[in-house]
Amino acid sequence: MTKRLKVGIIGLGSMGSTHLDIYSKINEAEVVAVADSIQSRLDGSSRAEGNISGQAEGGINGLSAKKYLNGMDLIKNSEIDIVDICVGTDLHFMFVEAALASGKHVLVEKPLARNYSEAKKIIQLAENSHSYVMSAMCLRYWPAWVYLKEAIASNKYGKCLSLNFKRQTSFPGGAFYSDHHQCGGALLDLHVHDTDFVNYCLGMPDEVFSQGYKGPSGGIDHIVTNYIYSKSDSSTLVSSEGSWTMQEGYGFNMSYTANFENGTLSYLLDEDETLNLFRSGKDSESIKLKDGMGYEFEIRTFVDEILTGKNTNFELLRQAADTIAIIEAEKTSIETSSVVSIKV
Ligand SMILES: NC(=O)c1ccc[n+]([C@@H]2O[C@H](COP(=O)([O-])OP(=O)(O)OC[C@H]3O[C@@H](n4cnc5c(N)ncnc54)[C@H](O)[C@@H]3O)[C@@H](O)[C@H]2O)c1
Repeated sequence: MTKRLKVGIIGLGSMGSTHLDIYSKINEAEVVAVADSIQSRLDGSSRAEGNISGQAEGGINGLSAKKYLNGMDLIKNSEIDIVDICVGTDLHFMFVEAALASGKHVLVEKPLARNYSEAKKIIQLAENSHSYVMSAMCLRYWPAWVYLKEAIASNKYGKCLSLNFKRQTSFPGGAFYSDHHQCGGALLDLHVHDTDFVNYCLGMPDEVFSQGYKGPSGGIDHIVTNYIYSKSDSSTLVSSEGSWTMQEGYGFNMSYTANFENGTLSYLLDEDETLNLFRSGKDSESIKLKDGMGYEFEIRTFVDEILTGKNTNFELLRQAADTIAIIEAEKTSIETSSVVSIKV
């Protein structure tokens, strides 16, 4: 019989609740412990909500799991195989370090760490461990984004001429998102998805040029970036916009437009999700996507790879760290109104 991995989730906010829902659908893993420093989240009398429909719908009611008010105590539980870290970003490094020191496998929410220096230390700790470590960059597993990555890599519509990404929402609120020291503003917290996807598809840009303004987190909460590939073979024009400064009631959307020599892909997720393909001289085509959100495929991949004895995918983990170096260059670009080279 397949081994049932024992999971402990630290942080029962919107992401911890989302992960909880997903493990309940995976036969090979079972949540045996949860931790949150807010008692009402632990006992189920209050519950966080997600920003995408279908996300964080379940709760911990009916779950027979050990409960801890501090994630560090959960890590000491010898029954646990996997520590799933869903606390605020400023706490990621501390919990990854402790979980790896106790020999657990680690799934850590995005961004990998609050800054590039911590992210590099996580890579070193992972390299010196026997554990499997994954950074939860969910877009890499999201069907419409998997489709885009494959279309770029295979040249199925010819060369990719331009890529534009957009991610906009009303401000999520709450203590974590209201303090840029903890969350890094929308620049790190929200826009990291698109910057990471650019890095994942095209590799590290040579330079960035960004503009942005501050918002309710006290940090950069609206950003527009051009990723410049001046020295590499890629001549794709790449840009991205991320913001959580939209007025209340606006909701959440993410989208991309990818223009290829022989086709244009246009994707939008708001209340619905659509991916359309346009080709000159042909009817437009609605592309049928696999049902499900990236979180689910990401966690299934994580569990499957542990069970099949795979080692950490260091290429993906290093990319998640390097993405934070790009974000830091974007911040410098905004502050100096100049094109900034990326150094890793
Ligand atoms: N993958 C995605 O699309 C996505 C979406 C939203 C958030 N996130 C990331 O997930 C992380 C959490 O975000 P969130 O929206 O769930 O935040 P949140 O503030 O809603 O939840 C964090 C929870 O951690 C708990 N916590 C804090 N310190 C703790 C400790 N020492 N021990 C135990 N619990 C503790 C808090 O009480 C809170 O309930 C962030 O890094 C964020 O960037 C990822």
